Amino acid sequence: MKLFVDTGSIKDIETIAALGILDGVTTNPSLLAKESGDFRQNLKRICEIVQGPVSGEVTATDFAGMLQQGHDIAKIHEHMVVKVPLTRDGIRACKALSGEGIRVNVTLCFSAAQALLAAKAGASFVSPFVGRLDDIATNGMELIREIVDIYDNYEFPTEVLVASCRHPIHVVESARMGADIATCPPAVIDQMFNHPLTTIGLEKFLKDWEKVQAVKA
Ligand code: G3P
Repeated sequence: MKLFVDTGSIKDIETIAALGILDGVTTNPSLLAKESGDFRQNLKRICEIVQGPVSGEVTATDFAGMLQQGHDIAKIHEHMVVKVPLTRDGIRACKALSGEGIRVNVTLCFSAAQALLAAKAGASFVSPFVGRLDDIATNGMELIREIVDIYDNYEFPTEVLVASCRHPIHVVESARMGADIATCPPAVIDQMFNHPLTTIGLEKFLKDWEKVQAVKA
């Protein structure tokens, strides 16, 4: 199970990469729009920090525009993965870019039928958005189960990249279902560390140790 961070913040990526548990980064236009500086330079810097796939998304909506932007994104760094939306033109662009050896992440996936199309178009990654499905009272994790089943049935090499993770349970359930990757905002990765019994237990260990040191002194 790989863990990606879903952010355009170089500072946050540096902090999480330093923990030694980061396998990759996903960005989207909304996330990159929050950051200052040139987006290409920012993506290049992210690739240098993270020794793994970094998704950068096209903003064109037509096939030719997606191809042009896809080539541009792929040239930024060898770690770059081109993210395209799950539309007809996006699937066509996925097929073309994948055929050239460029890795593609098909994003905005909300159904198993869409995930099947992404796999058939040669996507390296498919990004089902679990949180946004939960937001409309539809069980996002059920979609992950369906996609993992379908991809297993046919041994599709497309990796299931669980996106729109809103809390650690999304990550744990993804791992239980055999999804390949979960991408989380920095805050969710932070929450994964936290357990009150860890905090209480450590405090007690240190207090007990200090008491003995005081007696020995
Ligand atoms: O990057 C795609 C996805 O992870 C976005 O998540 O929280 O905006 O639904 P969210």
